[in-house]
Amino acid sequence: MSRFKSIAIDGPSGAGKSTLAKRLAKELGFHYVDTGAIYRTVALAALREGFDPSDSARVEALLPAISVTLDYDADGLQHMYLNGEDVTQAIRQNEVSAGASKVAAIPAVRAFLLDTQRSLAKSQNVIMDGRDIGTVVLPDADVKIFLTAAPEARAHRRCLELLERGQPADEAQILKEVLERDHRDANRAVAPLKQAEDAVLADTTELDFEGSFRLLRGIITHRLGGMKDE
Ligand code: DC
Repeated sequence: MSRFKSIAIDGPSGAGKSTLAKRLAKELGFHYVDTGAIYRTVALAALREGFDPSDSARVEALLPAISVTLDYDADGLQHMYLNGEDVTQAIRQNEVSAGASKVAAIPAVRAFLLDTQRSLAKSQNVIMDGRDIGTVVLPDADVKIFLTAAPEARAHRRCLELLERGQPADEAQILKEVLERDHRDANRAVAPLKQAEDAVLADTTELDFEGSFRLLRGIITHRLGGMKDE
């Protein structure tokens, strides 16, 4: 068994996983690992080549030629690198979001990224968020949380986020994209988005950020605290 603790947070896009996980990581002194960013980096590589991110043959052929790495800055912020270039900002574009969910359905992409994700949990305490962390990447995680919220609530939050950043936001369109991504992530053949049997379900539809944070912190301290007594 690993000396290090791991916390897996899975759930659909827009449930608040990354914001909550970042804050929890800070409070617990754990490393936050955003696995979605890793898929986004592969999607960016495909888009830059002019490939359709759903084109599994072309994306698969691209994998041996690219390097996807990450590190953390002094503030604990995860930086993504594509062939050594810092693409932390570039992977946040809308086109890359849709592309990430497409490349994530390709089995070779998931296999290519598995070791990168697992090795991060071998050398440090981690709180890792994604879609298949509790089911595939870290099946022995000490704490597993399935974080969700109604699609409408997630679309609404995303809309507010964009508006806050001064970007245009069409809530109906965002809801449509949220539903499309949910469908793709939950119905792909390999490692689909689903709650691990031993994960705790956390539904934040009716909760604000502070309420969600307290809920998750409670689940984690209960689980980690309980482990010390075992
Ligand atoms: O969390 P995110 O929106 O940055 O993730 C981008 C896409 O990557 C998302 O549509 C699903 C996919 N993904 C995945 O399949 N498995 C993960 N562990 C993380 C993300």
